[in-house]
Amino acid sequence: MNAYDALVAEAAGRPFAAIVGWPVEHSRSPALHGFWLEQHRIDGHYGRLPVEPNRQALEELAAFLKRTPNARGCNLTLPHKVEIIPLLDRIAPGAARIGAVNTVVKLADGSLEGRNTDGFGFLEALSYGAPGWRADAGPVAVLGAGGAARAVVAALMDAGVPELRLVNRTQKTAIDLGVAFTPNDGRRIVIDRWDDRAQALDGTTLLVNTTSLGMKGQLPLDLDLAQLPHTAVVYDIVYVPLETGLLAAARARGNRCIDGLGMLLHQGRPGFEAWFGTKVMVSAEQRRAVAADLGV
Ligand code: ATR
Repeated sequence: MNAYDALVAEAAGRPFAAIVGWPVEHSRSPALHGFWLEQHRIDGHYGRLPVEPNRQALEELAAFLKRTPNARGCNLTLPHKVEIIPLLDRIAPGAARIGAVNTVVKLADGSLEGRNTDGFGFLEALSYGAPGWRADAGPVAVLGAGGAARAVVAALMDAGVPELRLVNRTQKTAIDLGVAFTPNDGRRIVIDRWDDRAQALDGTTLLVNTTSLGMKGQLPLDLDLAQLPHTAVVYDIVYVPLETGLLAAARARGNRCIDGLGMLLHQGRPGFEAWFGTKVMVSAEQRRAVAADLGV
């Protein structure tokens, strides 16, 4: 039985969505959506779908979603978030701007719309994790300029930060991102050199790590926090481990900290609501369930 037939068999006629990636076995999305399906006693299914990274395989995916009546859409993870774009019927403006799609919704007319919910997830986790933090209160610093950084930078600029300091090992990538997301209202994205990352923290209200540094199996993030105000929020989007070296160091000096699990959970909400028609919230219980599934 191929992966599509297996998914259809699992769904057994119920409405379904799935995480699509290559590989896809390690994804925690089934645990997070499965929690909501159970919590709200929804007769639906969320599965896994391995799809090879080539155009023909992605075309097959789009055709499958369209022809299968109970398919509601999917999430996309590496390496499909960019390559799926030309195969969808419509790309929501936010996703077009970021240049990546993590959520596909089959609309009432059967067409497929690509959305990006990472920025939403990032900001929701920030507002729940650091109540009272205000985007317009001062400069923020973002480390990294990869795929995740694009969503984070777009979300922070849209939220109204007056100045965003962007620091990346490869400066050219940061410059390109800065050019793409600088609004024309006088607010700024300032590119700082990786070697100057400690100074970039001076006077900031928020520090975000979007690099893979500090993730299990990766190098630690080497960052001197001396110039970071004690009032700043420190947000690491890494979620394995939950408490990265950055968060441990920041917590020890009294900064408010946010780990990456909240963003993972909140980014799932818009997709779930669109596929299954039920509004969902992130709870401590769901956090525990997904953390246990992750083994963190
Ligand atoms: P994601 O989609 O998760 O953002 P990515 O696009 O591969 O992943 O981006 C990884 C980020 O981590 C990049 O900003 C990368 O910096 P480069 O643009 O210079 O590659 C950063 N990164 C990875 N390893 C790093 C290291 N050893 N030192 C500094 N930055 C690193």
